[in-house]
Amino acid sequence: MLLKISEISKQHERKSFDCGVEELNQFLRQQARQKTSKHVSKTYVACWDNNPLENSNRVAAYYTLTGYAVSPPPAHKDYINYPHPLPAVKLARLAVDHSNQGLRLGEKLLIDAIRRTVLAAEQISAIGLFVDPMTPDIVPFYEQYGFIPADPTDDDRLEMWLPIGTCYEVVSHLI
Ligand SMILES: CC(C)(COP(=O)(O)OP(=O)(O)OC[C@H]1O[C@@H](n2cnc3c(N)ncnc32)[C@H](O)[C@@H]1OP(=O)(O)O)[C@@H](O)C(=O)NCCC(=O)NCCS
Repeated sequence: MLLKISEISKQHERKSFDCGVEELNQFLRQQARQKTSKHVSKTYVACWDNNPLENSNRVAAYYTLTGYAVSPPPAHKDYINYPHPLPAVKLARLAVDHSNQGLRLGEKLLIDAIRRTVLAAEQISAIGLFVDPMTPDIVPFYEQYGFIPADPTDDDRLEMWLPIGTCYEVVSHLI
C-alpha cells in the first residue's frame, strides 16, 4: 500500500475523518480546503493508494502549515541580537484518523512538514518549524524528533520548535 500526500482538494473525502479531537475533525471538514484555496493556510492530506479496502480519496491523516512571525524570539544563541518578529513556519494542525493511529502516519506527515519548512527557508527564509502541542501529553511526541521548548524558562508556554539547522539534518537523512 502506498501513502500519497497531497494538497487538500474537493476530491478528498473528509466527512468520516475522526482523530478523537473534535476541533481537529471540524477544521478538516469545514475550513481546511477553503483556507488552502485562499492561501490563508495550507493543508496536506495523506490517503492510501492501491488499497482495495479503502477509498483512495479518504483522508487518513492531515497537517496544516501557516507562515508565522515569532515574537518574542526563541531562546537560541543565533537570534538573541535580532529584532523580532522573526519569520518561521507553524505546524498549525496535525491529526491522524483513529483507524490509522500507531502506523507512523503522524511521523511521516511531520517529516513532510519539516521538508516543506526547509523549502520555505530556502525560498523566503524561516528560522524553523513551530508547534503548539494541544496538551502536555503530546510534548514527548515532538521531543523525539528534536523539537525543543520555545522558551525553556516559561513552564506555561507549551510552544515548541525545531530550529532550521535541525530541519535540514532531518531532511538530509531522507536523501
Ligand atoms: C499524536 C498523533 C498525531 C500521532 O500520530 P500516530 O500516527 O498515531 O503516531 P506514529 O505512529 O507516527 O508514532 C510515532 C512515534 O510517536 C509515538 N507517539 C505517538 N503518539 C504519541 C503521543 N501522543 N505522545 C507521545 N508519543 C507518541 C509513538 O509511540 C511512536 O514512537 P516509537 O518510535 O517509540 O514507536 C495522533 O495520535 C493523533 O492524531 N492524535 C490526536 C490528535 C492530536 O493530538 N494531534 C496533535 C496536536 S498538537
